[in-house]
Amino acid sequence: MANDDRVLVGFDGADDAAVVRLDGDRLIVQTVDFFTPIVDNPYQFGQIAAANSLSDIYAMGGTPLFALNIVAFPINDLPKTILTEILQGGADKAREAGITIVGGHSIDDKEPKYGLVVTGEVDEQNLVKNNGARPGDALILTKPLGTGIIATAIKKGKADSDQIDAAVLSMSTLNNAAAEAMNGLDVHATTDVTGYGLLGHLLEMCRASNVSANVDFSSLPYLPGVRELAESGVFPGGTKRNLDFVNEYVHFQNSLSDIDQLLAADAQTSGGLLIALPNEEAKKYLEIINISAPFPAVKIGHITNITDTFISLY
Ligand code: CO
Ligand code: CO
Repeated sequence: MANDDRVLVGFDGADDAAVVRLDGDRLIVQTVDFFTPIVDNPYQFGQIAAANSLSDIYAMGGTPLFALNIVAFPINDLPKTILTEILQGGADKAREAGITIVGGHSIDDKEPKYGLVVTGEVDEQNLVKNNGARPGDALILTKPLGTGIIATAIKKGKADSDQIDAAVLSMSTLNNAAAEAMNGLDVHATTDVTGYGLLGHLLEMCRASNVSANVDFSSLPYLPGVRELAESGVFPGGTKRNLDFVNEYVHFQNSLSDIDQLLAADAQTSGGLLIALPNEEAKKYLEIINISAPFPAVKIGHITNITDTFISLY
């Protein structure tokens, strides 16, 4: 990491966003993400990409201030109305988050890509990193898993409309309510579940916090039809790579099948927050968030003292 004592969060901890001190306890939080379309509807893709980019600000306990578009588009090969719809989806999602997209940059490219640079702020006492989880903490997950499997099913024409609708609703839901519900609670660590999947992002949290985690596979929430799709062989390459990567750090109980292991490693887009906080605080959190959340937040396990594997899935 750069030798700059204004940098509170940089490359080192695999955290969600960069955090730099402005002055006193005022911190700036910044993140960037963009990717290729994962659903067929361009407006929905814009919404999902924006919600995904904003999520890293919420995962640090921050409030977004403004955003910039990052756009790649085959300007001579696709109708410009598609680009307009992608940008409208992003703009509407930004407005829902209470911010404006104030600029950006676009290039001509074979495959469309879209995302945001988001700048936010947080007071130092509200900053939540991924490195503060403690033994005994409950682990909460605020959105269902399986968006990687459903996105692959969409590409293969194997997803039905209920599955697509549920996945789009989940991916386009902002994590702002999940973050606001942490206010006033003694939250120890937070991250959001995206490309590395639940196991990958939990591994980062455990490593950064010098703890281990026990996760109850039967408690993991999934979007409708995900297991059936998985059993029919529908998996993104990223999910298999995730499982290969985390394998040496995870103890899988014998009763868990290869499919179960892949399900727990599924690469997510715009997933939920993964939150570590004391048990009593977790109960309060679930009462607050589950009044209004479109998908219930659930307790999926707890943090333990460090063991020879970072994660035990049972
Ligand atoms: Co993140
Ligand atoms: Co505490």
